[in-house]
Amino acid sequence: MIDKSVFSQYKKYLKDNLSQKRYKHSLNVANSAVRLAKKNDVDIDRAYAAGLLHDVCKELSGVEQLELIKQYELEIDQTELRTPSMYHAIAGSVFIRRHFGIEDEEIIRAVRFHTVATDKMSKLEQIVYLADLISADREYEGVEKMRRLCLKSLSKGMLEALSFQIVSNTQKGNFLIASTVRAYNEYVLKERF
Ligand SMILES: [Fe+2]
Ligand SMILES: [Fe+2]
Repeated sequence: MIDKSVFSQYKKYLKDNLSQKRYKHSLNVANSAVRLAKKNDVDIDRAYAAGLLHDVCKELSGVEQLELIKQYELEIDQTELRTPSMYHAIAGSVFIRRHFGIEDEEIIRAVRFHTVATDKMSKLEQIVYLADLISADREYEGVEKMRRLCLKSLSKGMLEALSFQIVSNTQKGNFLIASTVRAYNEYVLKERF
């Protein structure tokens, strides 16, 4: 259970440390996360908290992000270490534990894997990953279709999103992050076989 009074503390921090655009995005992701949580019997306060905080370290400098990543206690795959645009998620997972004293491992993992995904994600983790892609400020072609799909099924939404992420990374000549591939294979197995 989350004491709701922490939300204003989180929001104040985000407002003071993020651009207005990213602050709004954070609020939108939190709201989308709540919508998905209601549909999937997940605690709405935990979904709101994780949605709010998912990009908490996005606007830190590269050096600051690396400082936090050094304190991350689990292994980080080389493919992810070579992709600095993903660092803010790892840094965020360390930061929310240290700065806000969050001990809820599922919230911490939801922030940690909101960019790259991984295998065996809980519903809450899937919700934050997907809420980031369907929040009110997203405007890419097909976003409405994606919103409907995610509301219908988290698992179908994950498969669609991961397929898109993998195609887009290969087109750009970027690494495929190992945990993204593991996640993709898991949802293929679940949805197709
Ligand atoms: Fe992010
Ligand atoms: Fe985001």
